[in-house]
Amino acid sequence: MTSGSNYMRAAATLRHLSREMDGGSTSSSSSARSAAESLLSGMGRRWRHVQGVGAAADRLASELHVGAAGDVVRAAAWLHDIGYAPPLVDTGFHPVDGARFLRAHGVPELVVSLVAYHTGAVFEAEQRGLADELAAFAEPPSELLDVVTFADLTTGPDGAEMSVTQRLSEILVRYPEDSPVHRAVTASSPSLLAGADRVAEHLVVDPATVASR
Ligand SMILES: [Fe+2]
Repeated sequence: MTSGSNYMRAAATLRHLSREMDGGSTSSSSSARSAAESLLSGMGRRWRHVQGVGAAADRLASELHVGAAGDVVRAAAWLHDIGYAPPLVDTGFHPVDGARFLRAHGVPELVVSLVAYHTGAVFEAEQRGLADELAAFAEPPSELLDVVTFADLTTGPDGAEMSVTQRLSEILVRYPEDSPVHRAVTASSPSLLAGADRVAEHLVVDPATVASR
């Protein structure tokens, strides 16, 4: 299938997602997954990572008893890296490119804002001179953003589970010191770790698992 038809398929699925979420459906994360699959499944480890983040968000939404917001968190997790899909690349900053695409296709603004701001995007937008572009989106509630970010930060680039500290370290190794990603993660690490602590405090899990974060 061509990237053009994948784009059209993803767009149609997102319109479906929008109608589902407006109607209060609890199956919208499967539409989010389908849209992400249309655009990212040809991207190897990127798609494996997104599948891992989707699974992590599913577990977290259940563990944290976030109620109706769970569907928003799950949808945002599936869609958080959609801006890496080549047809969507515009600014080159994937949270903004992804959020623009989702907004253009009618995805609820709460999901759009979680994608725009996930995993310290404020810091990287600053590094890239794209703060105004990010500010076109409203900041999401921090408790939901913490959950989406935690799912991303406990899933490695190949989709394997890892601790937040391992994940931050692997990002710093993967990107050169002078890259916006490296500089942004260095600057955002304290707030990312604080957000992870807030999520971990509310998780009903083996304390040893949290301690190993
Ligand atoms: Fe991610």
